[in-house]
Amino acid sequence: MAKILVTGGIGYIGSHTVVELHNAGYEVVIVDNLANSSIKILDQLHQITGKYHEFIELDLQDTAAVNGFAEQHPDVAGIIHFAAYKAVGESVQEPLKYYKNNFYSLINLLTAYPTANFVFSSSCTVYGQPDKLPVTEDSEVKKAESPYGNTKQVAEEILKETVKATPGLNVISLRYFNPVGAHATALIGELPNGVPQNLVPFITQSAIGKRGPIQVFGDDYNTPDGSAIRDYIHVVDLAKAHVAAVKLLADGKVDGYDVFNLGTGKGSSVLEIINAFEQSTGEKLNYKIAPRREGDIEQIYGDVNKSKATLGWQTELDLNEMMRSAWEWEKYLRDNPF
Ligand code: NAD
Ligand code: WQD
Repeated sequence: MAKILVTGGIGYIGSHTVVELHNAGYEVVIVDNLANSSIKILDQLHQITGKYHEFIELDLQDTAAVNGFAEQHPDVAGIIHFAAYKAVGESVQEPLKYYKNNFYSLINLLTAYPTANFVFSSSCTVYGQPDKLPVTEDSEVKKAESPYGNTKQVAEEILKETVKATPGLNVISLRYFNPVGAHATALIGELPNGVPQNLVPFITQSAIGKRGPIQVFGDDYNTPDGSAIRDYIHVVDLAKAHVAAVKLLADGKVDGYDVFNLGTGKGSSVLEIINAFEQSTGEKLNYKIAPRREGDIEQIYGDVNKSKATLGWQTELDLNEMMRSAWEWEKYLRDNPF
């Protein structure tokens, strides 16, 4: 059974990917320092998969620790590198924290595993506000608006350059659009730190009474209903794309470096998301229109034809399932606090 190293595998997207790797017959070894996650997720993964996956608590910024890990685990068939800090606002307040973690971790891993099959978590944030929609993988990468966004852009460059210089290193960068929702069992999902900055966790926390009314940031954008548009993707669909990427690399079908958009290809506005949540859960939301949020773009959605054709992957779960599963997870958390 091929073994896949999943960094950040206790986190939101990583934990869902561990489940899908397990379902596809892979063995998993998880590395995480629990900086933004709870060790309880290991038990939750056990409940879902019937297995305690190998877990090593380790800070990827620690070069000696990463080298020690690689010596003990020379046999990994692939690496999926989720571990990073991801809060856009915090990255503006503490840029060095972001540059250190997101770069040191990446560089330590590439140094310890110079000839790996490597999957990197990138983001649609690299496109900024595109001139033309939907964005393809060839669309222009715009100057990043935040240190967080910059870590993704520069990490992609680091990977491209390192691939050129390193025979045997093969890399796929996956540019996620907006991951939302939770596993169908409601045993794993997103664990926001403090007041959620992202739309869907704020909606579910507002609906359950943990937060006040939702603020719709802007209703005067140049979109059909005036609110901003994003390409929301179910986290389970996103997780499955990582299995497809690992397979593509293992089959030797990536010549050095490649990049794929992971979205549904369809944009939804903030007001449409609010409506979809109400429709799929039967809950009534309180919301009010607020000023635009600084740094926000008006609209983005991805062209996912390359992912469909090359990864042989496409999304299966719709907006209703995204909202329903996010709500089930919120209720699970209420009844089973972490
Ligand atoms: P998350 O915070 O839930 O998961 C990241 C995990 O990495 C956490 O468990 C954290 O403890 C761990 N980690 C962080 N630094 C570490 C270190 N130095 N050593 C070991 N472990 C470390 O985030 P997520 O939403 O699952 O995102 C995963 C990846 O996807 C990130 O790279 C993120 O930037 C990227 N991404 C996320 C989104 C999103 O909206 N969630 C969108 C695009 C890209
Ligand atoms: C979605 C829409 C908000 C909260 C961020 C990162 C990006 C990527 C995904 C990692 C926007 C609106 C939100 C609220 C609202 N992460 N909104 N009221 O901004 O598209 O992307 O997460 O790579 O890098 O920037 O996601 O969920 O924050 O917002 O009206 O309380 O919802 O203005 O239009 P965003 P989001």
